[in-house]
Amino acid sequence: MKALIPAAGYGTRFFPATKCVPKELLPVGNKPAIQWIVEEAIEAGAEEVVIVTSPEKQILRDYFSESSLWHTRLAKKEEAMRELTRVEELSRKIRFVDQLEQRGLGHAVLQAASLLRDEKDPVLILLGDALVGGHPSASAEMAALSLRCANASVVGLELVPEEKVSRYGIIAGVPSAEDGRTFGITDIVEKPKREEAPSNLAVAGRYLLSPRIFELLETQRPGVGGEIQLTDAIQKLLGLEPVYGYLYPGKRFDIGNPEGYLICLQEFAPRTVQ
Ligand code: UTP
Repeated sequence: MKALIPAAGYGTRFFPATKCVPKELLPVGNKPAIQWIVEEAIEAGAEEVVIVTSPEKQILRDYFSESSLWHTRLAKKEEAMRELTRVEELSRKIRFVDQLEQRGLGHAVLQAASLLRDEKDPVLILLGDALVGGHPSASAEMAALSLRCANASVVGLELVPEEKVSRYGIIAGVPSAEDGRTFGITDIVEKPKREEAPSNLAVAGRYLLSPRIFELLETQRPGVGGEIQLTDAIQKLLGLEPVYGYLYPGKRFDIGNPEGYLICLQEFAPRTVQ
């Protein structure tokens, strides 16, 4: 399995902190948010992770690169050296592509088409500003569900209050297992009006999508907000292949705004503090 992390957004909800530092590099405990996400992908079985970024965010590439300077500096600092080695091990599994214009999540995903469109297995997509708690991780559980369903696509879900459905991609689905967490998706709509929302099951930062999604994104017209929406391409995928929804038990944290970041720190940071 390959993974894809869209991380090219401007981060305007967290301005001015994100003027120079990408939100994906904000620290959560002793490591940046995106490292938690890369680790989740690799632990779920991804052998390679493609990060979609932009030339303005060169510092993301710098973080995931080998540094002889740091090797020299940390030569006698065993613990810090272990962390450096860990980052470098992850770096060897990462490739970067650029999104030159921020035209939405679907457009960001499309930028990785040349690297991922010929994959046989579904591609794991993890939003670069969403951390998810819980063990096993949402990605690992979704990968296991996909395997049980003949390699089908799986979209991670969470329940949201009815008054907030217009902020999310919302699905219509039929429960397809007794666990109450698995749904056969019949429809999906981006940011519906409250009265038109088919449910309060929202798409929540993790996707395992058939590589066919790249072909669909190539012809995807801009949708809500004038952006190329991944949700709209998934809507088309529904007409071609089964797509499941999985209400993962872990809690999702949106680190793309100061409030979500603070809540995330309370949950994740203690795990890295001795
Ligand atoms: P968001 O909409 O939360 O990110 O996208 P944003 O555009 O940075 O948000 P603002 O500016 O605060 O409103 C979810 C994920 O998709 C990536 C973002 O980096 C984030 O990880 N993304 C979004 C892209 O890579 N490209 C885009 O054009 C939009």
